[in-house]
Amino acid sequence: MAHAVDPFGQAEWMDIKMRPAEEGDLPLFRRMAVDRDLVGNDWHGFSNARAPERRFAEDGYLGADGGRLMIDVDGETAGLLSWGAKQFGPNSRHWEIGILLLPEFRGRGIGWRAQAMMCDYLFEHTPVQRIQAGTQPENIAEQKSLVKAGFQLEGVIRAAEFRAGQWRDGLLFSRLRTDPAVAW
Ligand SMILES: CC(C)(COP(=O)(O)OP(=O)(O)OC[C@H]1O[C@@H](n2cnc3c(N)ncnc32)[C@H](O)[C@@H]1OP(=O)(O)O)[C@@H](O)C(=O)NCCC(=O)NCCS
Repeated sequence: MAHAVDPFGQAEWMDIKMRPAEEGDLPLFRRMAVDRDLVGNDWHGFSNARAPERRFAEDGYLGADGGRLMIDVDGETAGLLSWGAKQFGPNSRHWEIGILLLPEFRGRGIGWRAQAMMCDYLFEHTPVQRIQAGTQPENIAEQKSLVKAGFQLEGVIRAAEFRAGQWRDGLLFSRLRTDPAVAW
């Protein structure tokens, strides 16, 4: 999937593409398991840095219940998107998405576009009605990014996660198949 954008109203163009993970992405996945600075607010302690290798061997991070897609910008790996299955009632399977951009790719208009692309991709290839995304109250970049990607704030999830020494609230956003399309 490709798109050329001019986020600064200048002659700077980006070619943003999503692609499946490759063997060469495993060092980044391993870093995400152990590098607190890279992960930022979503850091929940060390996890097994060998797990990505196993998952990649199993299904290339393209599972029926979720996976990862890489984000390339002008041919360089800029980060990744994830999606996973969630359930509210017995017939209500939906997706939850997540995103991590490498620090040097943040704040350039890539995050919201990548998440909008991901919604288009999931609505095109799976029958879900709903895609949700959670974030933290202090993550202003992700909140703005989700709204620009067509998500709406649903509310505060009280004591949603134990992180950095205490129970903390989360914010839940969603985009429905029937919500207005977003031009990215
Ligand atoms: C959160 C993240 C995906 C946002 O993507 P991004 O490419 O950096 O953000 P964008 O350039 O698309 O910006 C979207 C909006 O957020 C604003 N924004 C970007 N960085 C910001 C920051 N650090 N503080 C406040 N606002 C910020 C932008 O100005 C823009 O709003 P505007 O159109 O009103 O100006 C990205 O920064 C990231 O990967 N961060 C680390 C991992 C993370 O937090 N993931 C989400 C976990 S829930």
